[in-house]
Amino acid sequence: MKEEQTNNTTNVENEDTLTNRQGHPVTNNQNMRTVGNRGPATLENYDFIEKISHFDRERIPERVVHARGAGAHGYFEAYGAVGDEAVSKYTRAKVFQGKGKKTPVFVRFSSVIHGGHSPETLRDPRGFAVKFYTEDGNWDLVGNNLKIFFIRDAIKFPDMIHAFKPDPVTNIQDSERFFDFCASSPESFHMVTFIYSPWGIPANYRMMQGSGVNTYKWVNNEGKAVLVKYHWEPKQGIRNLTQKEAEEIQAKNFNHATQDLYDAIEKGDFPEWELLVQTMSDDDHPELDFDPLDDTKLWPEDLFPWKAVGKMVLDRNPVDYFTEVEQAAFGTGVLVDGLDFSDDKMLQGRTFSYSDTQRHRVGANYLQLPINAPKKRVATNQSGGQMAYKLDRGPFQNPHINYEPSILDGLKEATQIGKEYTPMIKGNLVRESIDRQNNTKQAGETYRQFEQWEKTELISNLVNDLSACDPRIQEKMIALAEEADEDYGRHLREGLAQAKSNGSSQKPLGNKDGDKAPEQAIDKSHEADPY
Ligand code: HEM
Repeated sequence: MKEEQTNNTTNVENEDTLTNRQGHPVTNNQNMRTVGNRGPATLENYDFIEKISHFDRERIPERVVHARGAGAHGYFEAYGAVGDEAVSKYTRAKVFQGKGKKTPVFVRFSSVIHGGHSPETLRDPRGFAVKFYTEDGNWDLVGNNLKIFFIRDAIKFPDMIHAFKPDPVTNIQDSERFFDFCASSPESFHMVTFIYSPWGIPANYRMMQGSGVNTYKWVNNEGKAVLVKYHWEPKQGIRNLTQKEAEEIQAKNFNHATQDLYDAIEKGDFPEWELLVQTMSDDDHPELDFDPLDDTKLWPEDLFPWKAVGKMVLDRNPVDYFTEVEQAAFGTGVLVDGLDFSDDKMLQGRTFSYSDTQRHRVGANYLQLPINAPKKRVATNQSGGQMAYKLDRGPFQNPHINYEPSILDGLKEATQIGKEYTPMIKGNLVRESIDRQNNTKQAGETYRQFEQWEKTELISNLVNDLSACDPRIQEKMIALAEEADEDYGRHLREGLAQAKSNGSSQKPLGNKDGDKAPEQAIDKSHEADPY
């Protein structure tokens, strides 16, 4: 064949020959086709135009949040039990049944606010999203490292993200905008207490916890449900950084968390997490001082013990960052039989948002991409749309019958084995926040549980960022801290009074004396002559 090509005066092509996307061998990848070697270039230059125009389209829209991330493949291994009980008592989801049952997973860790190449040392929650490729199709558990969240109603999410992201005029993140939103949304105070402590800067992705945050349900074979919360506990231990330590790391390497994950897996030091759940009976629990659907609250461990259901091991790095990590699409709506939603309105808002953004960010056929496609048979009557490259057809499907129902042929509905879960839902349509808000009580408990160095760091970080804010915002934040815990409030008030007398003001968020950076850049830099 090779000889034939040579004799035929066509280009010689071997296994390692560069081609364009039409399969044409490329004979010169250093020089474009020009009239004489000084140019100009011609417009029929197919190889050049294909190459450069594909390059021009190399990026897809960045995730609107959680743009910076790293991913890895691995597996989940079920214990077949929840604590000491058979897991089937609570859920019929196959992924949990049978001790030692393995399910492949893909995990993406991320930070939230800044863009695709922002430093991995920033104060921010970390995303912890897991895609389980189960035999019943995909299950996505889209969580964070921290176990609670800033808000409890999805309608507030765009405002919250606008306030946390850089100012729309200056494109600089501004602590005043952050605290303006938080002071006006007191439900965020528990999360602010975590975020401004060392828990707001995990050392890396391997040494942090994960949590589903929102409340879900488990459904058993009798169609009975329980409320459930998910927790990932790292076998590597948990490590967090102080602001100063993070700044030192950032000065040397702003990709340290991605590097840490990649290197650990490359050298066979596979990170592991245990999956634990907390469960509650499926009702509104009037005996509690919080609503079990309120994602700004922890479920106290003494009342609702953590029970192990399995473990996850990450043992394979992606071959290509873009195709696997960037195009990965996780969503809270992606559940399998035996898992269900709770009535948590935040969760319903999220569930709309994820698949909606992914149809825009990746495209209408994002579920056909290998990273997102289930590792099982897919047979739908959906077709067309941009970048459709295959039909989701069953192997024996009559290609003429792309609809259902049909007397003639085509796809049929599945037979439901487990009893359908049919909760009764009744109530007036309202626009109201939930009862039992208790916005600061758990923040006080969390503060009291911090070690002294964590409390000191929390106050110092809050003072740094709050001291640049309008006094009305400061007063509101102090009032929330006082309501949470007398000591917490007093230290914050004293710290801010001290900062005022020092005349300090810091921007952008999180960096002490960050506002002095433009001046420092001029002072410390070296003059050069034009050439
Ligand atoms: C109403 C509240 C929320 C809304 C509307 C929302 C919306 C979004 C959107 C639009 C994305 C980008 C998805 C993509 O482009 O693929 C995203 C990513 C993400 N969100 Fe949320 N989110 C909300 C709350 C939360 C909460 C409470 C958590 C934690 C439990 C969370 C965890 C994540 C994670 C981990 C990602 C990144 C997933 C990945 O790695 O691709 N979000 N969110």
